[in-house]
Amino acid sequence: MTITIFSCSMHPMSRSYVLARQAEENLKAHDVDVRFHDLRDYDLDFCGQPEARDNPDVKVLRDSVRDSAGILMAMPIYNFYVNAAAKNLIELTGRAWIYKLVGFMCAAGGQASYMSVMNIANSLMLDFRCLVVPRFVYATDDAFGNDRTEDMFVEDEGILERLRELTDMTVKLATAVEPIIETLPERKGRT
Ligand SMILES: Cc1cc2nc3c(=O)[nH]c(=O)nc-3n(C[C@H](O)[C@H](O)[C@H](O)COP(=O)(O)O)c2cc1C
Repeated sequence: MTITIFSCSMHPMSRSYVLARQAEENLKAHDVDVRFHDLRDYDLDFCGQPEARDNPDVKVLRDSVRDSAGILMAMPIYNFYVNAAAKNLIELTGRAWIYKLVGFMCAAGGQASYMSVMNIANSLMLDFRCLVVPRFVYATDDAFGNDRTEDMFVEDEGILERLRELTDMTVKLATAVEPIIETLPERKGRT
């Protein structure tokens, strides 16, 4: 079973990237294949530009979504929403998300934006019938040691525990629902 992690921040010293790497570390305790995509490594156009979806980088990302039982997205909160790169990823890869299990890790400047991830959760649920892992991680700058340096790490015990819960629950739910999802016509006939 494959779990894909997308790190969606473009910041060179990203906090959500550190959350994503910690989730990857947690998943090593489970019998799953983990794919890690850092969107800073990809040269993506904005969805809507001609041929944006034909970019070979998009195919790599789309294939990972398609091959995965579960997807974890690590994202910054910008203007009370996930950042544009995260939204663009979903727009470019589209129907590959149908019936995927999706979990979220967010880095934010303050506590006031904690429900900002719901917009993307709603659209994934309604548009692509995604199942959302009912545990999400929301971390502000004080959760990180050596903040905004090469040696940054998740320091806050509460956030570490939430990351463990997120990764454990993602594996458990993906294992439980994958056999059901695989029988659905939308997934059987996927291209
Ligand atoms: C353009 C911009 C908009 C932001 N908007 C919000 C916001 O609405 N709510 C919030 O809590 N933090 C906001 N922040 C702070 C970021 O979420 C915070 O710096 C976070 O750590 C970024 O994640 P990253 O380090 O993974 O890039 C904003 C930052 C930027 C640059």
